[in-house]
Amino acid sequence: MLENALTIDDLKALARRRVPKMFFDYADSGAWTEGTYRANESDFAKILLRQRILVDMTDRSLATEMVGESVSMPIALAPTGLTGMQHADGEILAAQAAEAAGVPFALSTMSICSIEDVAAATTKPFMFQLYVMRDRAFIERLIDRAKAARCSALVLTLDLQILGQRHKDLRNGLSAPPKFTPKHVWQMATRPAWCLGMLGTKRRSFGNIVGHASNVGDLASLSSWTKEQFDPRLSWADVAWIKERWGGKLILKGILDAEDARMAAETGADAIIVSNHGGRQLDGARSSISALPGVVDAVGGRIEVHMDGGVRSGQDVLKAVALGAKGVWIGRPFLYGLGAGGRAGVARALEIIRTELDITMALCGKRDIRAIDASIIDETPWARRS
Ligand SMILES: Cc1cc2nc3c(=O)[nH]c(=O)nc-3n(C[C@H](O)[C@H](O)[C@H](O)COP(=O)(O)O)c2cc1C
Repeated sequence: MLENALTIDDLKALARRRVPKMFFDYADSGAWTEGTYRANESDFAKILLRQRILVDMTDRSLATEMVGESVSMPIALAPTGLTGMQHADGEILAAQAAEAAGVPFALSTMSICSIEDVAAATTKPFMFQLYVMRDRAFIERLIDRAKAARCSALVLTLDLQILGQRHKDLRNGLSAPPKFTPKHVWQMATRPAWCLGMLGTKRRSFGNIVGHASNVGDLASLSSWTKEQFDPRLSWADVAWIKERWGGKLILKGILDAEDARMAAETGADAIIVSNHGGRQLDGARSSISALPGVVDAVGGRIEVHMDGGVRSGQDVLKAVALGAKGVWIGRPFLYGLGAGGRAGVARALEIIRTELDITMALCGKRDIRAIDASIIDETPWARRS
């Protein structure tokens, strides 16, 4: 089955058949009209590449660095909440697949498997994504736990002070673990392989939170806790104390505006991720790929610039690199792989993207990903090029 998947879309179709609707929809959704979600993907298609011929295409290399870390290609698995609901032990399996492929994995604060679970199941450091909650003592402990697990970087997400409204999640009554209403039981009963996996694991709730945050011992109190806890007053001053407390590499995620990017560059962080949270927060905001060039110009090399949102192929990765991204993060592509086939499915997603990236780079007449720049983009397809 997985071998027959040639594109990320093929994996998405497989995932749709294996993952209960409420969790599949959780991945495949954006805020409100989902316009920004769609634009993230469709804007990539508007960028054209220059076909070059008769250049030596042997000995190609996709290897490069992201925040000083060697990577086999400039791709990382983006932090995603509830990943352990796409497939039992999902975060562990995705982290293992990323490690085997030589690319970074970032664990979400809202993961099902905990920091300690993932650390115990992997051999190389992974990154940890932080959401800042009002309960600062809990956040300090979370940062300390990520340090104790030797996480390689802290990814601080800045575009979710309040939650964007996703209609599918509201209509589906999404929760983790799922509720046992007839509708939810039916959604699960029609996905027996998923159920079998879930019966085989104890990890079915928010592993970083339950038992660690005060007043969250059981699941009933968790949803109200999350709603109350995301901090709407988060400010640039908070970035400073978090940086100080963490003391390691810091990546600021969720920057879409050139003015914000300039401020982010002043914080002394190691990188920023141009992102609109996969179109899940401000519907009506521009696509990430269209925001990338402006941000790259604004920061003028003072800070490493990465991007995420809408990347569905190796071609998209190459286009983002050409427009100045040092690293390209993928969310849904790996989630679909995970839903389709666990660790092997994530490996397949990475393999599909790697092959597409390699062939596209070659046909653009380039052999080394580190040499890719805007010269591979066909800027004015209808004009005469001399
Ligand atoms: C199901 C899902 C859950 C997500 N959860 C988080 C999260 O917990 N923390 C975070 O910083 N970003 C989260 N994101 C955003 C991703 O990190 C990333 O920005 C986005 O998925 C990129 O877009 P793409 O899915 O089109 O690749 C989530 C995205 C999805 C699809």
